[in-house]
Amino acid sequence: MPVCGVFGKAVTTVEGIRGVEERVHPVQERLTKAHGSQCGYCTPGFIMAMYTLLRNKPQPTKDDVDIAIQGNLCRCTGYRPILEAFYSFAKDEKGEIKVTENGCPMGEKCCKNGGDGCGGERKTLIKLSDMSKCVPYDPSHELIFPPELKLKNFHQQSFFHDSNGHKWYQPTDYSMLLALKRKHPHARVISGNSELAIELKFRFINLEMVINPRQVPELHEHHLTDDGVYLGTGLSLSQMEDALNEFSKDLPESKTRVFKAVLEMLHWFAGRHVRNVASVAGNIATASPISDLNPIWMASKAKVVLDSEERGERTLTIDEKFFIGYRKTVIRPDEIVKAVIVPFSNENEHFYAYKLAQRREDDIAIVTGAFRAQMNPKTQLVDNLSISYGGMDIFTRLALKTAEKLAGKKWDKTLLDLGLNLISEEFTLKPDVPGGMARFRQTLTLSFFFKFFLQVAKNLQISIDHCVEKTEIGDTIPHTLNATQLYQEVSKDQPIHDPVGRPLEHVSGERHTTGEAIYTTDIEIAGCLHSALVLAPIACGTIDNVDPTKALEMDGVIAFFDASDLPTNERMGHHSDTPIFAKDRVSYHCQPIGIIVARDHETARRGANAVVVQCTAEKPIVTIEEARKADSWILDELQLHSQLNEGNDVVKKNDWSKYTRVIEGEVKMGGQEHFYFETHNCIVIPKEDRALEVIVSTQGINDVQTEIGKCLSIPRHKIVVKVKRIGGGFGGKETASPLIAVPCALAAMKLKKPVRLYLERFDDMAITGTRHPFNFNYKVALSEDNHLIDYDVTAYANGGHSLDLSTGVLTRAMVHIDNVYKFKNAHIYGRICRTNTASNTAFRGFGGPQGMFCTETLMKQLAETYDLDVDELREKNLYNEGDMTPFGMHLRKCNIRRTWHECKEISQYLEKKGKVQEFNRKNHFRKRGLYMMPTKFGIGFGLKFMNQASALVLIYTDGTVLISHGGMEMGQGLHTKILQIAARCLDIPIELIHVEETATDKVPNSMPTAASVGSDLCGVAVEDACQQLNQRLQPYKDKMKEKAWKDWIQAAHIDRVSLSASGFGIIHNEPVDFFNGKGAELFGYCVYGTACCEVEIDCLTGDHRLLSTHIVMDIGDSLNPAIDIGQIEGAFVQGYGLFTMEEIRVRPNGIRLSRGPGVYKIPSADDVPRDFHVSLLKGSSNPHAIFASKAVGEPPLFLGCTVFFAIREAIRAYRIQQGQKGYFRFDSPATPEAIRMACEDEFTKKIPDLPDAHSFTPWTVAL
Ligand SMILES: Cc1cc2nc3c(=O)[nH]c(=O)nc-3n(C[C@H](O)[C@H](O)[C@H](O)COP(=O)(O)OP(=O)(O)OC[C@H]3O[C@@H](n4cnc5c(N)ncnc54)[C@H](O)[C@@H]3O)c2cc1C
Ligand code: FES
Repeated sequence: MPVCGVFGKAVTTVEGIRGVEERVHPVQERLTKAHGSQCGYCTPGFIMAMYTLLRNKPQPTKDDVDIAIQGNLCRCTGYRPILEAFYSFAKDEKGEIKVTENGCPMGEKCCKNGGDGCGGERKTLIKLSDMSKCVPYDPSHELIFPPELKLKNFHQQSFFHDSNGHKWYQPTDYSMLLALKRKHPHARVISGNSELAIELKFRFINLEMVINPRQVPELHEHHLTDDGVYLGTGLSLSQMEDALNEFSKDLPESKTRVFKAVLEMLHWFAGRHVRNVASVAGNIATASPISDLNPIWMASKAKVVLDSEERGERTLTIDEKFFIGYRKTVIRPDEIVKAVIVPFSNENEHFYAYKLAQRREDDIAIVTGAFRAQMNPKTQLVDNLSISYGGMDIFTRLALKTAEKLAGKKWDKTLLDLGLNLISEEFTLKPDVPGGMARFRQTLTLSFFFKFFLQVAKNLQISIDHCVEKTEIGDTIPHTLNATQLYQEVSKDQPIHDPVGRPLEHVSGERHTTGEAIYTTDIEIAGCLHSALVLAPIACGTIDNVDPTKALEMDGVIAFFDASDLPTNERMGHHSDTPIFAKDRVSYHCQPIGIIVARDHETARRGANAVVVQCTAEKPIVTIEEARKADSWILDELQLHSQLNEGNDVVKKNDWSKYTRVIEGEVKMGGQEHFYFETHNCIVIPKEDRALEVIVSTQGINDVQTEIGKCLSIPRHKIVVKVKRIGGGFGGKETASPLIAVPCALAAMKLKKPVRLYLERFDDMAITGTRHPFNFNYKVALSEDNHLIDYDVTAYANGGHSLDLSTGVLTRAMVHIDNVYKFKNAHIYGRICRTNTASNTAFRGFGGPQGMFCTETLMKQLAETYDLDVDELREKNLYNEGDMTPFGMHLRKCNIRRTWHECKEISQYLEKKGKVQEFNRKNHFRKRGLYMMPTKFGIGFGLKFMNQASALVLIYTDGTVLISHGGMEMGQGLHTKILQIAARCLDIPIELIHVEETATDKVPNSMPTAASVGSDLCGVAVEDACQQLNQRLQPYKDKMKEKAWKDWIQAAHIDRVSLSASGFGIIHNEPVDFFNGKGAELFGYCVYGTACCEVEIDCLTGDHRLLSTHIVMDIGDSLNPAIDIGQIEGAFVQGYGLFTMEEIRVRPNGIRLSRGPGVYKIPSADDVPRDFHVSLLKGSSNPHAIFASKAVGEPPLFLGCTVFFAIREAIRAYRIQQGQKGYFRFDSPATPEAIRMACEDEFTKKIPDLPDAHSFTPWTVAL
C-alpha cells in the first residue's frame, strides 16, 4: 500500500498494540503461550490479522478466524499452535480448545477410563498449553481511533502530492475524477494496488501519475436494481462480499444464484488481506486470463458501467466482445470503471462456478469455469446455456459453439456426452501452451462441466448415475481443531527450578509476538549504503558485454563492481568452485554478474535492472535426464555395498536369475524451495586496519567468515561475523550465505562504507539453490516368504552448476535409502549431475527424505505387483534390535517397531481402513486414502570433523550468566534449550542466564547449525563449560553451605578464581568410505517415527484434503516437549508441502519461473489437518546425547510423505474402480495435475495424448 494511500487513516502496527515492557495484548499472550512462533518472522503478520479481526468482531467464530488468516503463511510451525491460540477467541469456546472425544487419544487406555496409558511414574499430558488461564479479551481496553483524524475528516478531503515528478491525485468529487482522467488519460487509476504493485516492483514500470478514486462517494454506492445488484467499484472485494450477503438475506434463493457463486468464489479469491483492498474494477481492467471473477461475469451476463467526462456513461455486458486480447479490454483510456451490475437469477436458471488452483486457498486459478443453464419449465429443455472458462486462452472465453449446440436439448446423458465432446473440441491447448499443463487444463474443462451437469440434474431431480453424490471434498472436515500433543511430565523428584524436560515457551516468544525481536533487517547503521546484484538473463552461454553506464547515470547510484574488482581469482564454496561473479560464461539463470551500490534499496534495485548485460545463449542442461544423456557429472560415482560390512573383501554382483520375484523401477522426486520467511540479507561494516564486521542472516557464520577471508584476502581474525536470530533457514542459509555476503563485503571494502545487501524473494529464489531433485533406478528381489533380499539402486541428484554440499546430500540419501527395512544384500550407487541451475544445497533432511522416498515407492511396487498387504510386508522387514544397515551401522535401541505399533493403535488404523473402504465403495468421484509410514533418521554430520562445538560461559559477580555458543537461533528453539541445559548444569534458575548473539569473536570455527545436532553439540559444549565452572565453585559451595549462588560467585571472584570457561563437545561419527563402498558405525544414534494420514481426493479435479494425521515420534527424553512437538508438526507440514504442492517451475531453457509466492505454493493454515495428533514415544532415552534426549529438527520431515502415499492410495481406489489394477508409477510431488492425470477415466481419454516429447518445447520441465 503506497503511503499516499493511507492519507488520513490511522495505521496500527504490531509494535503499537503493546510491548513486552507493558502487559501484552491478549492475542500476543495467547500466541506466545500456545508456542505459536518459532523463527518469529511471520508472527507480527498473524498477530495483526487476528487483532484486526477482534477489532472488527470481538466475538468471532472459528470460520472468521480461518478467513482472517487466509493470507498469512508460516514456514515453521505447521499452524496447529497458531490455530489453537486464535480459536480460543472464538465465541463457541470458553478459552479452552477441544481435544478428541474423550479428551485423550489413548482411548480406552486413558487414565480417565481406568487405563494406565497416561500414568506411570511420569504422567502423560495431552496438551502443551492451556488458554483458560489467559486474560479474557476485553474490547473496551483497545486503543481508540485518533480523535484528530476523526475530527479533521482527512479521508473526505481531496489531496494531491507531487514527489520527484511522481504525481498522486486523490479526488473526492466524482466529476473531478472524470475530469482528471480526461486530462490525463494515461494516468493509472489505483484502486487496491494489488495488481499495480506487482508491475511496479517487478516490471519497474514508471508510475508517473496515479489517480486514487477510493474517496469518491459515488463509487461506493450499492443498491438493488430491477435486474440485479449495482456495486460501485470503490468497494473492496470484502465490502462487495458483505453487500452481496446483505442483499441475499432478503431475496428469494432463486434470485441469488449468481450472487452465491460470486460469494463462493470470493472465498477462494486471494486472501482476506488482498480482498480487503482489491477492487472488482481492478480485476476487470487487468483482464487477467486467469481471473476468478471474469468467468462468472461472462457466464451470468453481468454488466459493467464505464464513464468518461467526454462521452458520459455507457453500460456494457461483459461478453465475448469485452475482452479483446491478452490483458486488453474495450475500456478506453479516459474511462473509469464505475460499477458492476450482478444479475439476478430466476427460478429456472442454474448457476455454478468452479476453480482449481495448486493450493486451494490464496492461489491464482489454473482453470476457472462458470456455468449457467436456463431451463424451459414446460419442456424441460435447455433454453440457453452460458459456459465460460478462465485459464484456457489469452483471455476469459465463452464456449459459444458448445452453448449454441446444446440449446434446445434435454438434460440427459446425451447432452452430457455432446457437451463434453463439444467442449473438448472448442477448448484445445497446444502441447507447448504458455503455462503448460495442457492435458490437465483441458481435462478440467470437462470435469467442471460434468460437475455442473450433475448438479443441475440433481436440482431437476433427473435420475442420472451419480447425480445425488457429492463431488466436493472435505465436507467432513470439522470446524474445530482436534489436536493433542502427548508427552511425559518430568519426574516428581525433579527440582522445581530445573527446567529440563518442561514445555517452556520459546525464549523469544513474546518478542516475536510484540514485533520487538531484532533481525538483521531491523539493524540501522548510520551512513549505510544499499546494494543489489546484477543477474544473468540466461542459464548458459557467454557474456558478451556488461555495461553499467545507464545505471551509474541514475540519481543515487554510487558504484558498480564485478569480477574485475576482485582482489584474487578465488572462488567460493568448500570446493572453491563457485564464482563470486560470473565472468565470460554464465552457468545458471540469475547467476550474479556484478553488484550495484546506491543510496537506498529501491535505487539499487532499479540500478541493477538498468545494467545492460548482453549474452549469447547456448542450450543448457537442466534436468537429470539431460545431464545423464550428456554425461554431465559433478561427482561420479559413490557406492555402498552391504557385503563389505560382513567381512567380504570383494563385491559380488547380484544374480537376478536366482529369484522368481524381482521388480525394477524408476521414480523421480522434485526439489523444494526453502522459502524461509526472512530472505538472505547482510550488512558489512568496514573497521580500521582492513577489518570487517558482518551482520548476516546465516546458519553458518564460519562459512561466511571463511569465504570472505578467502575471496577478499583478509585474515579471518579481522572478520567478525554475527547473528542474533534468523527468520528461518532450513538449510538454505548454510553455504548459500556467502553468495550474498562476499559481494557485499567487496562493495564495503572498496567504498570504505557500510553496505547492506537484502534480497527480494524474487531474486533470493533464483540466486540460491533448493533441495536436490532426485531420480532413482532400482531393482529388488523378494523371497518367497516376503523378505527383501537383493537391492540394487542408483540415486541421481541434480546438483546444479557447482558442488556446494551435494556430496553430503547424496551420501545422506544413500545411507537413508534403506529407510527402516532390512535388505539382505544391497548395492547402492550415487551420482551428482551438473546442470545449468543454481547450485542445489542443504535442506532439512539433507537427501534423507529423497532416499527414503525411493524405498517406500518400491515397497508399494512390490506389494502391488505381488498382491501383498504393504503393512504386512513392512512388518516382516522392519529392522530389529542390533540389525546392521547397508552402510554398516548397528541399530541399538531400535524403536521403530514401537512407534509403528503405537501409531497403529492411536490412529485406530485398522478400524479406519474399513471405513475408508466403505467410503470408497459409496463414492464414485471422491476417494479416500489411508496410509501409515515409518521413518528412521541418523543423527550427526556426515563428516567427522564437523561433529564438534564450542561454547563460552561467563559468570558475572551479580550471579548472572552469559552464554555464547556456536549455534544459530533460527526458530528451532536452540537458545531456549541451551538455557534449560545450563540452568540444570549450574543448578540455578533459568532467569539468571542469557544467551548472547552468535559471533565468531566469541566462539571460533563453529560448524553450521544444521544436521539437527544444534542442541546435541552446543548442549555438550555448554555442559562442559558449566562443569569446569562447577568444579571451580565446588570449594565455595562446600565451605559456605548455608549461602547461595551469588555468594559463592562473589567469594570465588575475591579469591581470584576465573569465572569464565570455554567448553567443547563432540558427538560420535565413524566415516563411511563411499569411494570404495565400505560402511561404518556412521551415526551415534537414530531417531524413529511413524505417521498415519487419511486424505480425500477429488478425482475430477485433482484437489485433495488432508483429513487426519497421527504421529508417534521417538525423540528420547525430550529436553522441551513444546519445542520438540513444534519441530515435529512443523517438519511434518514442510514435508507435506514437499511431497504434494511445492513445485519448482523451470523452463526448458533454464529460466526459473517459480520465484515467489505467486507461483510457488507452500502449505497454508487451511491445508493442515484439523485432526492432528503428535505423541512422543514414552520411556525412550538415549545415551548418546545430552540428558538422554534426541535430535528432532529433520527426522519428522519425511513423515509428510505419508500424505503422498495416502493420496496414491486414493488414486489407486479410483483406478481400480475404472478397471486399472496394476502398479502405476507416481512421481513426487502429488500436485493436482499429477493426481487428476493419474485418475484416468472417460474424461482424460477425451483429451489427446501429448505428441512425441521431441516434437515440441514444453512450458516447464521437471528438474
Ligand atoms: C496476493 C495476490 C493474490 C491474488 N489472487 C487473485 C485471485 O485469487 N483471483 C484473481 O482473479 N485475482 C487475484 N489477484 C489479482 C488482483 O488482486 C485482482 O485482480 C484485484 O481484483 C485487482 O484489483 P485492485 O483494486 O487491487 O487493482 P489495482 O492494482 O488497483 O489496479 C489494477 C488495474 O486496474 C486499473 N483500475 C483499477 N481501478 C480502476 C477503475 N476504477 N477504473 C479503471 N481502471 C481501474 C488500474 O489502473 C490497473 O491497471 C491477486 C493478487 C495478489 C497480489
Ligand atoms: S514462525 Fe512462522 S515463519 Fe517462522
